[in-house]
Amino acid sequence: MSPAGGPAELVLLNPGPANTSERVRRALDRGDMCHREPEFSRLLESIRAGLVETLVSPHSHEAVVITGSGTAAVEMAVLSSVRPGRAVLVLENGAYGERIGRMCAAQGLKTYQVVEEWARPIDPARVTDALAAHPDIDAVAGVMHETTSGLVNPMEEIGAIVAATDAVLVVDAISATGHETPELARIQADLVCGTANKGLHGLPGAAFVLIGRSKGLSRVERTPVRSGYLDLAGHLRAQRGGEVLYTPAVQVYQAFDEAIREFRELGGYRARVADYRARAALLRSGFARLGLEILVAPPHRSNSVTTVRLPAGVAYRALHDELKERGFVVYAGQGRLSGDYFRVCNMGELALPTLSRFVSELEEVLTLW
Ligand SMILES: Cc1ncc(COP(=O)(O)O)c(C=O)c1O
Repeated sequence: MSPAGGPAELVLLNPGPANTSERVRRALDRGDMCHREPEFSRLLESIRAGLVETLVSPHSHEAVVITGSGTAAVEMAVLSSVRPGRAVLVLENGAYGERIGRMCAAQGLKTYQVVEEWARPIDPARVTDALAAHPDIDAVAGVMHETTSGLVNPMEEIGAIVAATDAVLVVDAISATGHETPELARIQADLVCGTANKGLHGLPGAAFVLIGRSKGLSRVERTPVRSGYLDLAGHLRAQRGGEVLYTPAVQVYQAFDEAIREFRELGGYRARVADYRARAALLRSGFARLGLEILVAPPHRSNSVTTVRLPAGVAYRALHDELKERGFVVYAGQGRLSGDYFRVCNMGELALPTLSRFVSELEEVLTLW
């Protein structure tokens, strides 16, 4: 048993925090470090450089790393993307798009919305129409992979539309960095938000924004500061000089740096996409064999999250608890999907035989009802 009372080695099939390698966990134990010393500056620079080199390009983006969860990175990017008196176009087809809308409302930012059903992608033509109808739109903000449903939005097309205007594109890529298609480098995004503890296989507590050099940097530098902590321009200035504004989660950064190294050594983006696709294919063929229905239609499915309809007569909590007894943590459906669906995610340090075992356990558990 773990100190928290659960089985010591749970297989996490929730969409992050994901299982990590021993190598990454060991990096937590490299000893204490002061964040105002040169060794921390080197660590920070290694993460910042590693992120842009592996996910985009040092020529196209610059990274800012903060201590906080993914939501902090998204809020920081959104607050830093819209100038006073201007508006944000929010793309909503899931809980995370809706969350961006709530962040804007909390700051009194003017918004317009493109709203779509939760299992359908945002239609890029509606983004074009909204930009034409509302010339005060300064930023378009949307979610690349809606973890709510497991759907990937057409961000490459949306990026091309926004790039032809003066607006900037903010992409919540929290559950897409390193493993969803298309590659982030193909998306003309001005602010890309990510986190350590999902597809990059780091630990929770560190998040980042990749700022595009074409429009992103100048927009961030020209947008008035709206938050003391989530001051993207301030973090950027400090981090360019190897400094941080506030106390970072030093050990989590050490593990994050190790996770980025591991990602590169294992073959980077291409290898992780191939790996995640094989995992998702194994799970989905298992679900098909068990007669389980998947929410999202095939062309829009992500490589990492599958939202599955609960069979008639099966309650999520009972299913979850039975599977947890067998060592697997599945995840509830979100918001309006919670009554009818559950989610199975294949992020993190996972082997295909483990997923095969999960499908067998699921098959057995489903015979209980
Ligand atoms: C697409 C997306 N955006 C934002 C978040 C929020 O991240 P966090 O819970 O780390 O704040 C998540 C978390 O799952 C997510 O999947």
